[in-house]
Amino acid sequence: MYNVRKLTEDLAWIGGSDRKIQKFENVYKLNSGMNYNSYFLDCGVTVLFDTVDREVEDVFFENISYCLAGRTLDYIIVHHMEPDHSATLAKVLDSNPDAKLIVNAKTLQFISQFFPGKDYSSRVISVKDGDELDIGSHRFRFIFAPMVHWPEVMMSFDMTEGTLFSADAFGSYGATNGSIFADGKDFEKELLDEARRYYTNIVGKYGMQTTAVLNKTSSLDIRMICPLHSYVWRENLGKIISCYKTWGSYTPEVKGVFILQGSIYGHTANAAEVLMTELDKRGIESVILDASVADISDIIAMAFKYSNIVIASPTYNNGIYSPVEHAVNELAAHGLCGRSFSVIENGTWAPSAAKALLAVIGGLKNCKVLGQTVTIKSACNEDTRLAIASLADAIKDDME
Ligand SMILES: Cc1cc2nc3c(=O)[nH]c(=O)nc-3n(C[C@H](O)[C@H](O)[C@H](O)COP(=O)(O)O)c2cc1C
Ligand SMILES: [Fe+2]
Ligand SMILES: [Fe+2]
Repeated sequence: MYNVRKLTEDLAWIGGSDRKIQKFENVYKLNSGMNYNSYFLDCGVTVLFDTVDREVEDVFFENISYCLAGRTLDYIIVHHMEPDHSATLAKVLDSNPDAKLIVNAKTLQFISQFFPGKDYSSRVISVKDGDELDIGSHRFRFIFAPMVHWPEVMMSFDMTEGTLFSADAFGSYGATNGSIFADGKDFEKELLDEARRYYTNIVGKYGMQTTAVLNKTSSLDIRMICPLHSYVWRENLGKIISCYKTWGSYTPEVKGVFILQGSIYGHTANAAEVLMTELDKRGIESVILDASVADISDIIAMAFKYSNIVIASPTYNNGIYSPVEHAVNELAAHGLCGRSFSVIENGTWAPSAAKALLAVIGGLKNCKVLGQTVTIKSACNEDTRLAIASLADAIKDDME
């Protein structure tokens, strides 16, 4: 059965949610499934914006038939050629042979790679960055957004209605609940954490490119944002846009400490807990994640959220404890920069985790190391307590 929600007189949401999927990109934990958006515009001509993931294709094809109501599909705009949005594109193109395909050159290349043996080039209206096009009674501008999240990504702006089709940007993890509109929800309590996790995990590495596209769209009179995932934004757009400015520039949202801890027998974990208490005594907010238990998606999100990061790791075969090593390498791979780091290491015979950690941290842009490295020889003792207290002092001094 079709499932369509009108967004404006001319525009309808025709996407769907997969409530069973456990991991996005088969890597990042999903707490409540995932949503894939597609949109349909009826403006004298019929226009489809992107398609959906295979998991929700049944309802999607019913939605298209319902919206077309016996008419032919005139245009398909593809903003992003990643399979979560385009796995069903060939099927749409083959079943709507008169539809023109509005894409850029890179997208056309990716289409031919994903659908070997198919050639849709004769149906293409090719657009370049900044091009404007009348489509039916609406006028569109195309804004390229390379690497947000793939190189072919573009946004389009419906100048007639003020709608920005933003591709992956401004999306979130999670199947949608209740309304497709974000405005009925509490931004801080219900939307922010999942939007941060999604952005930092998926696009985090491409902050510069995100900032560039924010600059390109800043002069537009945007009244509604239609992303490819999760809720449609039509009120207080400034809130989510301002988050993207913060995340894209790697600016910490919160002055506080993210303690990333790994531990085999519990002694390094004990040091992390002692540090948390010492920080609290000094009025500093902190959060701890255990690298062996926490999902990497949360570790990345917390590293983007907080100004200071403390890494606490046992020595493992003369290096970093492997779960911590994986996490720290992921932070580097996500382009994390501009943070203050501190290190706690543990080892029974030849502690060397700190040396290896400092080498990774040294490779991050605009990051500094605060305080003395705390070295634990197996279990925390009174000297460790003092060392942790002075580390807390150094962190406090840095924040003032
Ligand atoms: C597989 C394995 C390899 C280890 N390699 C080293 C090492 O190379 N150097 C060292 O000093 N300690 C090494 N250790 C010992 C731990 O780092 C040490 O016992 C530490 O105190 C454990 O901290 P925890 O109580 O937080 O787990 C190793 C332990 C394990 C299980
Ligand atoms: Fe994507
Ligand atoms: Fe996506």
